[in-house]
Amino acid sequence: MNVSQGRLRWVFPAAAACFVFAGLAGVLFRYGLVMGFPFGLHAEYIRHAHSHLMYFSWVTPLLMAMLAVHGVPRERWSKSVSVAIGGTFVLGLMAFVPFLMFGYTVAEIGTARIPFSMIAAGLNVIPWYVFAVWYLRNARQADDAPQRTLFAGAVVYLVLASLGAWALAYLSISGQNNLFLERSALHIFLDYFSEGWLVLGVLGLMYALVGQQPGGADLARIRTATVLLLAGLSATFLLPLPATLVPVPMRWAAALGGVAACAGLALHIGWLWSRARGWRIVLFLLAVKTVAMLAYSLPGVNEWAGQLGARLLYLHILLLGFVTLGLIRAAVATWLPGRLAAEGWMVASVFVLLASLLPLTRLFPAALMGRWVLLFALAASVLPVLSMIGLFVQWHTGRNVEIASFRLEDHPVATAGVSELAPEAAPETLRLSEV
Ligand code: HEM
Repeated sequence: MNVSQGRLRWVFPAAAACFVFAGLAGVLFRYGLVMGFPFGLHAEYIRHAHSHLMYFSWVTPLLMAMLAVHGVPRERWSKSVSVAIGGTFVLGLMAFVPFLMFGYTVAEIGTARIPFSMIAAGLNVIPWYVFAVWYLRNARQADDAPQRTLFAGAVVYLVLASLGAWALAYLSISGQNNLFLERSALHIFLDYFSEGWLVLGVLGLMYALVGQQPGGADLARIRTATVLLLAGLSATFLLPLPATLVPVPMRWAAALGGVAACAGLALHIGWLWSRARGWRIVLFLLAVKTVAMLAYSLPGVNEWAGQLGARLLYLHILLLGFVTLGLIRAAVATWLPGRLAAEGWMVASVFVLLASLLPLTRLFPAALMGRWVLLFALAASVLPVLSMIGLFVQWHTGRNVEIASFRLEDHPVATAGVSELAPEAAPETLRLSEV
């Protein structure tokens, strides 16, 4: 059965609601550090609940919907895509409570010992497989469209990430005490998910939405960039491992992979910078992340960078900065006729939150540290949550849509017929464009 692309428009508000829940868990973590953790909650468990819900039910379903809209022709749509996306929401939310209560530990109920969180996390990969099979079988784009390889690469990395999660579960059940394998499996899951699935997916969306395709020498350069990125990323999961665990030849392979991936990203950023004007903030954050990754890839610098305690900052530049702002931009450009004012609030609040993470690293002078650092981090953590609530409200009311900055040629998907993509938005669209 074919479904209309407009029907997937519900994915944005549903994912935004999950962002708010997950974000509130982040606020609770910050609150707990200042005031103490309420209801006997554990800092580590709150962190797991936060990061898993962000991964499972904010970024993943929204990116799946975007790939479906921009990667698969409408006549090839089937129920599988709605099932996969719906499944990511339901299972992601189901995992939230066990993570909050038990983290990764085994729950003891009477005499039974049940690993609720691991079961819930394991179930989450099922809709990923449904989506991956559906997407790889049905995706059709022009051969020379850069997003074609980037989207397919993103989906392949999503599947590879899930293998890391299975390997981790197997290693913990089998009781082999092999730290190298355990850490490798963990980082295959985390890094293939964030650097592969998310980065490749959002990068592909920029090409899909920018409305221009590279040709001639540019096309060859972009293809080289994508090859470098896809190949390089495969080895980068070794970079965060302690040097003592990784044999020297593998450390060199990881460094080479990191440099290749960064070169690929730099070439992509260079091409998109002058053509994707509405995406410059997103590209800037990708550039910052690329510089950090390059530093992290170089032997010697790697160990120094590891001691800075900047991993949390790096993760949020990548996941809250590049990925989240990129997905919001893509969703608005795809499903609405203009920009939402709350997008600007979100950009500002992301920068404030990132600034609040800087004093938590060793990059910040120790002499200036004090209680204000935790209070600032707590106050800043509330802002993206409020901005997302603003986006949610404006998405539904259609208010504050700025049409002055909207040029149809920037949004090929919108020109394909907003009424087809988002039937429920069509009357609003017409009224706005007549103003
Ligand atoms: C509302 C915005 C956000 C807030 C307030 C927030 C807050 C936090 C906090 C307080 C932590 C724990 C810090 C610590 O360990 O010291 C954290 C960790 C983390 N967050 Fe966020 N975050 C936000 C957005 C995101 C997004 C959008 C993602 C992913 C898409 C994300 C993924 C992560 C990850 C992966 C970790 C590390 C988990 C770990 O090390 O186990 N966060 N965040």
